[in-house]
Amino acid sequence: MKIKQLTALVFGVLLTGLVSCEYQTIVPYDVIVPETPVDFSTQIEPIFTQLDCVSCHTGSFEPNFTVGKAYASLVSKNLFDTANPSNSKLILQINSGHNTTVNMTAVQKALILRWITEGAKGVVPPVSFKTEVEPLFAAVGCVQCHSGSQIPDLRVGKAFASLTSNNFVIANNSDGSKLIQYIKAGHNTAPSLTAAQKALITKWIMEGIKNN
Ligand code: HEC
Ligand code: HEC
Repeated sequence: MKIKQLTALVFGVLLTGLVSCEYQTIVPYDVIVPETPVDFSTQIEPIFTQLDCVSCHTGSFEPNFTVGKAYASLVSKNLFDTANPSNSKLILQINSGHNTTVNMTAVQKALILRWITEGAKGVVPPVSFKTEVEPLFAAVGCVQCHSGSQIPDLRVGKAFASLTSNNFVIANNSDGSKLIQYIKAGHNTAPSLTAAQKALITKWIMEGIKNN
């Protein structure tokens, strides 16, 4: 998280504390700006276990927050409203201070709200290197220069080996990956990568740089 975002977040939390004594209100979701869309399995579902929602919600009544079941249960009980996210039953229940042994943090609330705002997507399939990432290097013109003599070799069939053997990508660490650093710096691209394309490459790195 960048310093600016962190400052905004801390400020938001302080402000929340000042304006509301009775209930903790939601921090606007845009105080945290993850580079990739919020992911249900890794960012949302674990919250329900961490906060012990599962001490009650494990099947005898809905929503069932057991890992692997939470998404289907939230859908079947209609507990989120993507057209009006802050009016979602899940959000209203959380804001009412409902039965929590451990209080939800402002960041967790903001993540859940953001997840709903982004369309409340369930388990998103992993990015495919071969069909989604590799073709981008030709599409945006990287291969005009990176086609053999200039590493990384970004041609189809060569890109994975060249990126990994030269350590231009580090699994699960997009900020530490030279590929992302160069892309962020706006390095030499004729038509530049769109935000969605950058997010795709970032997600591929955060998923462990698979040759899939
Ligand atoms: C001590 C037991 C207990 C814990 C812990 C608990 N709940 Fe609940 N929850 C209930 C009960 C009982 C109901 C049904 C009655 C009601 O609405 O209060 C319920 C209802 C709900 C509903 C509304 C379901 C509907 O169909 O309208 C949501 C959403 C919910 N809980 C979310 C949570 C979340 C999120 C947590 C953890 C932060 C949590 N609960 C922790 C007991 C619990
Ligand atoms: C106009 C030619 C040109 C284009 C187009 C180009 N690059 Fe480069 N790239 C270079 C040159 C020259 C270097 C070596 C000098 C440097 O590090 O800036 C380089 C270096 C790099 C490096 C670091 C290599 C090292 O040895 O440290 C990466 C990663 C990289 N480019 C990725 C890309 C990507 C991804 C694209 C497309 C989005 C791209 N480049 C487009 C010319 C280009």
